[in-house]
Amino acid sequence: MDRITGHTAAVVGLQWGDEGKGKLVDLLANKYRAVVRYNGGANAGHSVVVGGERYSLHLVPSGILSPTCEAVIGNGVVVDPHRLLEEIKTLNDRGVDTSRLVISDRAHVVMPYHKAEDAAREELLNSSKETQESDASKRVVSAIGTTKRGIGPAYADKIHRSTAIRIGDLTRPEILRTKLTMICTLKNAVLGAMIGDGYEPIDAEELISEMIECGKQLAPMVKDTAYLLDDLRNEGQPILFEGANATMLDVDHGTYPFVTSSNSSALGIGAGSGVPPQCISQIIGVVKAYSTRVGGGPMPTELFDSIGDGIRERGREFGTTTGRPRRVGWLDLVAVKYSAMVSGATELCITLLDVLASEDELKIATQYKVDGKLTDRFLPDGYLLDQAEPVYETMPGFSQDITAARSFEELPAEARAYIEKIEQFVGVPVKTVSVGPDREQTILRESVLETVGS
Ligand code: GDP
Ligand code: IMO
Ligand code: MG
Repeated sequence: MDRITGHTAAVVGLQWGDEGKGKLVDLLANKYRAVVRYNGGANAGHSVVVGGERYSLHLVPSGILSPTCEAVIGNGVVVDPHRLLEEIKTLNDRGVDTSRLVISDRAHVVMPYHKAEDAAREELLNSSKETQESDASKRVVSAIGTTKRGIGPAYADKIHRSTAIRIGDLTRPEILRTKLTMICTLKNAVLGAMIGDGYEPIDAEELISEMIECGKQLAPMVKDTAYLLDDLRNEGQPILFEGANATMLDVDHGTYPFVTSSNSSALGIGAGSGVPPQCISQIIGVVKAYSTRVGGGPMPTELFDSIGDGIRERGREFGTTTGRPRRVGWLDLVAVKYSAMVSGATELCITLLDVLASEDELKIATQYKVDGKLTDRFLPDGYLLDQAEPVYETMPGFSQDITAARSFEELPAEARAYIEKIEQFVGVPVKTVSVGPDREQTILRESVLETVGS
């Protein structure tokens, strides 16, 4: 199919991450001139399978696997330069051309002290008396279960302003030296007090040299990506945005405080890329056929039994970034409907449907019970959501292996009914169904690729 001109679309997760965004972006990428990350950092783990080969992407947009697509790291991303350089090398070693990677000069840098602070904060919270409280309603102090990739502290410094380093600074050694010298003094004082005995102060000179070296290696890729994207739009080139993390983890609209530190819903696209909001005409909300969550925080439909264990095993639900086993639960449509609203989903892609094969019945939460009252409204507050009990509707399951299905009609009637229930409840059409990790294992129900240009 010809390149779709002038079209700007986005792929965003509508749950707690790991919905299979990377797979969908990879599937669509060759129709776009650029794939743009607008939020998050190396906390993201997007696993893409092409022709049986599995690639794990953390900072590099999944569009890198499509040879004609520019992969853009937008200004809203926080970049760990060492991890990015390692990821580029791993891709190059596997024969992937990364010369199409572009990084915003305004993206913020994740420094080693951000990772140290992330780990120290989690440690302190984990060991605090209040965290150990057995009554959940009193457990108001709690570790978040972060990926320890320094994400929160890096975004905090972005907001502090005076203690932030941007990618552009790495290419200006004198400015970098002055700023980092001051920042290291401050960080050593703060982290020293936080960590106490055993804290190894940052050697400012060593860090400066390291970062100047990273700057030299990254410099050819550093650009003003807001102008780059504007130029592409003016040429009528199609652009795809790749969300990292997901709407339930959005710092403003997710299950706060158990969220990440960026606007990971579609609402982050404008700020994180410089492309104005009215330009995003198609927003594909990716929904896993059940729920998963990594780290702490409420998850009303969580399963603690053999059904959950079975789904975890069949779905290979172990984190791409940290390897942690993912928490597993039934599909929570109260949460998904809210996410679709906040992210403005214009269509849905249901993923990992194949994993549900062999369940006798499938449960879907369509309401919550809170303080004895039923509600169909989501509670975007970690502490309030902790009090919500899911109210389920039960649907018949299916036992057939559906990984070879390539059309909606080939799916068992029970699987079709499950999909139809989702679109009817959320009020957004399901246009894509994924039945396996490979690019090929996808049902384009109403061809996303053909409707993309409309
Ligand atoms: P992302 O963070 O949203 O990109 O998702 P991840 O890559 O972290 O997690 C999704 C996992 O599910 C990956 O291992 C994918 O290869 C895999 N996957 C994606 N779609 C499907 C599917 O339809 N069926 C199965 N069985 N696996 C899938
Ligand atoms: P992708 O893009 C799943 C979770 C972490 C933790 C919380 C905060 O692969 O879907 P952070 O390190 O961001 O401060 O951690 O958010 N989290 C994710 N969970 N998938 C992700 O990304 C995530 N990114 C962050 O587990 O609970
Ligand atoms: Mg992931």
